[in-house]
Amino acid sequence: MPTHYLSEHDVAVLEIDNPPVNALSLEVRTGLIAGLERAAGDAAVKAVVIAGAGGSFPAGADINEIASGAAFQPPILLDVIARLESLGKPTVAAIEGLALGGGFELALACHARIAAPAARVGLPEVKLGLIPGSGGTQRFTRLAGPQAALEAITSGEQLSAARALTLGLIDAIAAEAPRAAIDCARRLAAEGAPPPASERAQKITGVDPQLFARWRAAHERKFRGQLAPWRIVDAIEAACTRGREEAFQLERQYYLQCRESPQRKALMHVFHAERAARRIPDVGGEVEPLPIRRAGVVGAGTMGAGIAICFASAGIPVTLLDVSPAALESARARIRELYGQSVERGKLTRGQADAAFERISTASRYEALGEVDIAIEAVFEDPALKREVFEKLDRSTPPHAILASNTSTLDIDGLAAATGRPQQVVGTHFFSPAHVMKLMENVRGAASSPRTLLTVMALARRLGKIPVLAGNCDGFIGNRMLQYYGAEAERLLEEGATPEQVDDVIEAFGFAMGPLAMRDLAGNDVGWAIRRNRALPPDERWSPILQRMAEQGRLGRKSGHGFYRYEGGKRRHNPEALALIEAVSRELRVERRSIGEEEILARLLHPLVNEGAKILAEGIASRPGDIDVVYVHGYGFPPYKGGPMYWAEQDGLEKVIATMERLAPSHGMRWRPAPRLIEAAGRGRWS
Ligand code: NAI
Repeated sequence: MPTHYLSEHDVAVLEIDNPPVNALSLEVRTGLIAGLERAAGDAAVKAVVIAGAGGSFPAGADINEIASGAAFQPPILLDVIARLESLGKPTVAAIEGLALGGGFELALACHARIAAPAARVGLPEVKLGLIPGSGGTQRFTRLAGPQAALEAITSGEQLSAARALTLGLIDAIAAEAPRAAIDCARRLAAEGAPPPASERAQKITGVDPQLFARWRAAHERKFRGQLAPWRIVDAIEAACTRGREEAFQLERQYYLQCRESPQRKALMHVFHAERAARRIPDVGGEVEPLPIRRAGVVGAGTMGAGIAICFASAGIPVTLLDVSPAALESARARIRELYGQSVERGKLTRGQADAAFERISTASRYEALGEVDIAIEAVFEDPALKREVFEKLDRSTPPHAILASNTSTLDIDGLAAATGRPQQVVGTHFFSPAHVMKLMENVRGAASSPRTLLTVMALARRLGKIPVLAGNCDGFIGNRMLQYYGAEAERLLEEGATPEQVDDVIEAFGFAMGPLAMRDLAGNDVGWAIRRNRALPPDERWSPILQRMAEQGRLGRKSGHGFYRYEGGKRRHNPEALALIEAVSRELRVERRSIGEEEILARLLHPLVNEGAKILAEGIASRPGDIDVVYVHGYGFPPYKGGPMYWAEQDGLEKVIATMERLAPSHGMRWRPAPRLIEAAGRGRWS
């Protein structure tokens, strides 16, 4: 039985036992109701403790039940909670490990909650396009107030036990949480029969009436186009402004609305795709990953410093090596500052931040890497320099060590050839800022061994990243596709669009930033430098716009102007940029015209999808979902639209074909619809 009934004299302990995370499956819910009935019928039982076996409270609903999108089979969690509330005996949740989603809703419905010091709680439903539907938004708000509820539930973040205690979400922290919960239950029973929970806190008072209007205005941009975050705000507002019954019913109504939405379906797709991406189709479970006890990072620039933070925060000692003492010094200062910010934001305690910082040592000589299990190279994007670094790494690291490159485009096999251990060479492409961005695009070289691949996939998870394995080609999955998107943005400018029009369409679609604002952020000199080294087929051309921008010192944010002007960090229309664009149109004898939003969207996103189809056909990506994960976690594609491949499948693959057929004559044969796309469109699905 997934729920055990354990008797502690006058306290009944209902222990949920459904490994690995004690998900609230149908059997668990049935078991809980049976346990509550038994406790209700036993006069000797004065109170009930709900706990999880194996060191965790339920970490949520059964994902397969959510995935189906259908109604849960009764008894549903609401039934369990209703039985709990009508019990007439005090109930206490003993929280160890994780109490998330429905698990935390169950705990919130108890009279008290005792958590172990390392426990984490939260309502992450928003990440799957849902809102808590069993009173979670209501009880959280009643306990912690609307401001904390808005922040925690719309972000879906996990809260530490210490934070939960400060917010009033739990009653105490105890090393032996189940034991302390039993004591607490006994105490509550001795204090007399508690009122049923439904009688407690009828309504929240003293809430600033402007709070919700202010909050909505401040988050308008962040949650634009999304359903679940706004429904969460509505539910929390209801908790503060409506009667208890009505507010609980509204929450349920909003939950059902979210459950039916295409956004939930898309987010569920991403959830499954992330899990599927961890598996390498032709590498089985017979090999074990190499244990990583110590790491080295070569190049202490933007990426190297961020990668070092990833290791240190995951508890792995790391040596950061750079030829430039100044680079090492500034990396240390930056890392210290970032850890300081984590402490200020309550993400880490001072002790945790100091311990992590101390795991990072710096070095200027390769001998310092004599004990590493993996070295990640993050020097300038220069093939000759990188080869030289790989030769040195091959000589200075232990023979078993894996040598990885953070290159965003370069040939992994070329680097492997510079070493005597090509089977241990692999790409580990992090995204900027490396300590924040979730994606790790690992790149398989021709000789990369199964063990090497499994090691970097496992390492990604240890670093808190989401791994995808890509094949070795120019730009791998992400940047190979991106070049079409970037190139097309400029062609749209040549034909008559303004930077604002292009970016607005993409931002309204759900990306945080449009392609031209992105160019300004990365630096137009950087963009041009990358492009300059790229070969094009003879029937293609680059728009001259980017090159002109770079040559005229219109570098973007760092020079104060590029596609936009920047004033106090805000982007503004730049008439000079428009003049430059119009001059290019004239030179190219392109008659400028007004371009509709639909055309802009199709011309930016459909080439991504078409290239994605080629990437699939070539085996650079193993599954369409892998490409979606790369775009969602590395390139800002809105997760609630599922990623480019999923989105195109939902929207109609034949539309992608139509766009590509239209573009190929003017853009070159490489833009023709890919055979894999045509085949998928015939089926209406990628597979
Ligand atoms: P960066 O210019 O900030 O840092 C490069 C560092 O390498 C400098 O500190 C330099 O002193 C050091 N270096 C140069 N030669 C060295 C050598 N022989 N030995 C040791 N250190 C040496 O560069 P960034 O942006 O961090 O990029 C590094 C790599 O990461 C590149 O391959 C780049 O393509 C890739 N990448 C960059 C991303 C970004 O957004 N900046 C994103 C993803 C990958």
